[in-house]
Amino acid sequence: MSTQDASLIDLARRYWLPVYRPRELVLDHGRGARLWDTQGRDYVDFGAGIAVNGLGHQDPDLLAALTAQAHKLWHSSNVFYTEPPLKLAQELVEASGFAERVFLCNSGAEANEAAIKLVRRWAAAQGRAPDRRTIVTFHGSFHGRTLATVTATAQPKYQEGYEPLPGGFRYIDFNDVAALEAAFAHGDVAAVMVEPVQGEGGVRPAAAGFLAHARELCDRHGALLVLDEIQCGMGRTGTLFAHAQDGVTPDIVTLAKALGAGFPIGAMLAGAKVAEVMQVGAHGSTFGGNPLAAAVARVALAKLGSAAVLMNVERQANELRAGLAAIDRELGLFDEVRGRGLMLGAALAEPHRGKAGAMLDVAAAHGVLLLQAGPDVLRLLPPLTITDEEVAEGLGRLRAALAAFLDDSAGDMP
Ligand SMILES: Cc1ncc(COP(=O)(O)O)c(C=O)c1O
Repeated sequence: MSTQDASLIDLARRYWLPVYRPRELVLDHGRGARLWDTQGRDYVDFGAGIAVNGLGHQDPDLLAALTAQAHKLWHSSNVFYTEPPLKLAQELVEASGFAERVFLCNSGAEANEAAIKLVRRWAAAQGRAPDRRTIVTFHGSFHGRTLATVTATAQPKYQEGYEPLPGGFRYIDFNDVAALEAAFAHGDVAAVMVEPVQGEGGVRPAAAGFLAHARELCDRHGALLVLDEIQCGMGRTGTLFAHAQDGVTPDIVTLAKALGAGFPIGAMLAGAKVAEVMQVGAHGSTFGGNPLAAAVARVALAKLGSAAVLMNVERQANELRAGLAAIDRELGLFDEVRGRGLMLGAALAEPHRGKAGAMLDVAAAHGVLLLQAGPDVLRLLPPLTITDEEVAEGLGRLRAALAAFLDDSAGDMP
């Protein structure tokens, strides 16, 4: 590492609240699905900033939209209208096929916080007592880091030490139909909140028919179906909305991450049952609907939903799966490769569990950046516009990295 990088990283050690542990490299710029560090080394980007840079880096249309808006107006807050968030809301409603209204915010956690508040307001408007406004969520889920969304996140490691947590959540096993039915037996469920493909929890898709079953139970018991598509939405699984593949109509969908393609924005989409529940003053955000963010998101939405991008998702997903299978045949590392579209998880076989982080370090040293989903799963979330050449190069580097990792670990054996 150069002394310049070392002194930059030292600033993080000294001044950041130490809640992150970034890889020891300083990125400088990117183009397409490639990134370059300050030393000029290049990397294939199989992570897209945790499913954010759906159109890769320096997409010319995003750049044009951002700079055009930057030369006009940066911010006005919601005390005045500007054009980008108005048009974006219309385009989201039209693209969704179910939503009637949109609340714009700045992150995934905020979108889910808005969804949780909307569920509670909806239940309250129906005269349901506070103890009958329970939201069911799933073990392994991830919904954000605010107090309410970390409580919705049914993973103790994110909650420990933040008690007292808000009440009114019930956790059950993902893809467990019997548990879902039992969760409704208390007669207090106001909503089921679920990721169509769990991301942080290990890249686990909802089983065939599971969301449809949840929809049916919600209808029977007067509850709402809330889908968190913050990671799996915006084309990542091969359709603009992930739930299109599950054949369900949700009441609420939350989006963030790739909606801004790298510019912070979140959105909560509200269907007919809940669109009129919140009125003036019920919720808000200073930056929500910021014109810079909305101008970028309009372009991201149009491009990520285009046939060209969605066809590329399918094509490159097949390439990546074939490449990972070939790596596995040679090196015998994985139990399975799962996921949908360009949201893939390679689950490490027993002897290699717990080593995902160490493998990512070696992968970075070999010029390919990917992610983990817990210590046992390598997670691949490349830009949806990644090319054949970038996929082939990234797979080649990953193979070399994993082979080197295995050689090194063999050397460590007693
Ligand atoms: C499914 C899901 N929901 C919510 C969030 C929270 O989003 P943010 O980090 O933008 O608050 C994430 C972030 O990883 C996520 O993957």
